[in-house]
Amino acid sequence: MLVDSLAEIEVSLSGRDYLIQVKSGLLELLGEKVKAVASPYSRKVVIISNKKVFSLYGAKVIGSLNNYFEKTYSFLINDGEKYKTLSTAEKIYGFLIENKIERHDIIIALGGGVIGDLAGFAAATYLRGISYVQVPTSLLAQIDAAIGGKTAVNHPKGKNLIGAFHQPKLVAIDPIVLETLPKRELKSAMYEVIKYGVIADKDLFYLLKKERTKILSRDKDLLSEIIFRCCNIKAGVVSRDEHEKGERRILNFGHTIGHALETVTNYRRFKHGEAVGYGMIAASNIARELGFLTEAERLEIENLIISYGLLPQIKNVNLELVLQAMQQDKKSLAGQLIFVLPEQIGRVIIGETVPVALIYQVLEKLLIN
Ligand SMILES: NC(=O)c1ccc[n+]([C@@H]2O[C@H](COP(=O)([O-])OP(=O)(O)OC[C@H]3O[C@@H](n4cnc5c(N)ncnc54)[C@H](O)[C@@H]3O)[C@@H](O)[C@H]2O)c1
Repeated sequence: MLVDSLAEIEVSLSGRDYLIQVKSGLLELLGEKVKAVASPYSRKVVIISNKKVFSLYGAKVIGSLNNYFEKTYSFLINDGEKYKTLSTAEKIYGFLIENKIERHDIIIALGGGVIGDLAGFAAATYLRGISYVQVPTSLLAQIDAAIGGKTAVNHPKGKNLIGAFHQPKLVAIDPIVLETLPKRELKSAMYEVIKYGVIADKDLFYLLKKERTKILSRDKDLLSEIIFRCCNIKAGVVSRDEHEKGERRILNFGHTIGHALETVTNYRRFKHGEAVGYGMIAASNIARELGFLTEAERLEIENLIISYGLLPQIKNVNLELVLQAMQQDKKSLAGQLIFVLPEQIGRVIIGETVPVALIYQVLEKLLIN
C-alpha cells in the first residue's frame, strides 16, 4: 500500500456495511468523508475527544468538518482509562441534550481506544442510537478498537462490562498521527499487530520480523502497510461473525491470560498490548505442551514478541489470583478456561479447554523468569 493513496476496506454487515479508509493526510479530508456517510438531514457534528489528542489534531478536524456541516461541537474528557465510565457517558448525554443533538446528527470519536469505546457507547445509547464515525489516533485503535462495533464503558467491578454492539458509519485512519504517539503506546500496540500475524497472516509475521527497526522508527510506508493488513483481517472476521459466536474469538489469542494479568495488577502495571504479549507467549507454550505447535515456531513467536521491546517485569504477581481472574473473565465458559492456541504461524484453533494443571505450570514458568 502506498502511503499517499487511499486504501479502502469494506466491513460487510447486511445493510450496515461501512468502509475503513486509510490514507496519510485523511484528517484534512474528514469533512468530505463524513458528509458522504451522514444522513442528508444531518446538520451538526459532535467531536468527542480528550484534551491531549484534541490539542494536537482538533483544529485540523474542526477546520475540515466546518466546510461541510452547519455546526461543529467538541466535548473533551480527561485522558485515561479511568474516565471510560458511565459517569463520563452521562456527561456526554447532558452535552448532547443541551445542544439539541438530534437522531440524524453525528458523533466523531477522535482519539485512542478509550475515546472510541466511550464515544461509541454514547452513540449507541443516546436516543436509542445515533450515527458515529471512528477517527482512531493510536495504533491500537487503528488496527483493532475502532473496527467491529464493540463499544463499552468500565464498571468498578470490571473492564468493559457495560456495552453494546453499535457499528460506526466510517472508520477514518490517518497514519500520520502516529508521529506523536508515545513510544510505549506504539510498542504495546505492536504486540497486537504480532497477534494478527500469528492468527491469520504469516507474511505479516515475517514482515514484522524483517523490518522491526524501520517499523519502530515509524516508517510511514510500513506503518500504513501494517494498518491495512490488520484492518483487512479484522474486517473479514467481523463481517463473518459480528457478535463473537465463533470465528471472531480468534482475535482473543493471548487475551485469556493477558486480561487476567491486567486485572490482578489493577490495570496499572501493563499496557493492554503488553499483557497480551505475555498472554501470547503463555498460549504458545500451552500449544507446544499439547503438541499443537512445533518448538521452532513457538520460539519464533516468543522471539518476535521480545524483539519489539522487553515486556514489563511480571514478578510479585499471585498465581492463584491470575487463575481466579481467568475463571471470572466474561470470555470463560461456565468456569472452563477456553483458549485460542496457535497450530502454526498464521493459523490458530479456537475453543480449546486447557487443563488447569498445565496453565499452572506455564504461568509458574512465566512468573519465575
Ligand atoms: N472496542 C474494541 O473492540 C476494543 C479493542 C481493543 C481495545 N479496546 C479498548 O481500547 C482502550 C485502549 O486503547 P488505546 O491503547 O488506544 O488507549 P488510549 O485511548 O488510552 O490511548 C493511549 C494514549 O495515547 C494517547 N494518544 C492517542 N492518540 C495519540 C496521538 N496520535 N498522539 C499522541 N497521543 C495519543 C492517548 O491520549 C492516551 O494517553 C481500552 O479501553 C480497551 O478496552 C477496545
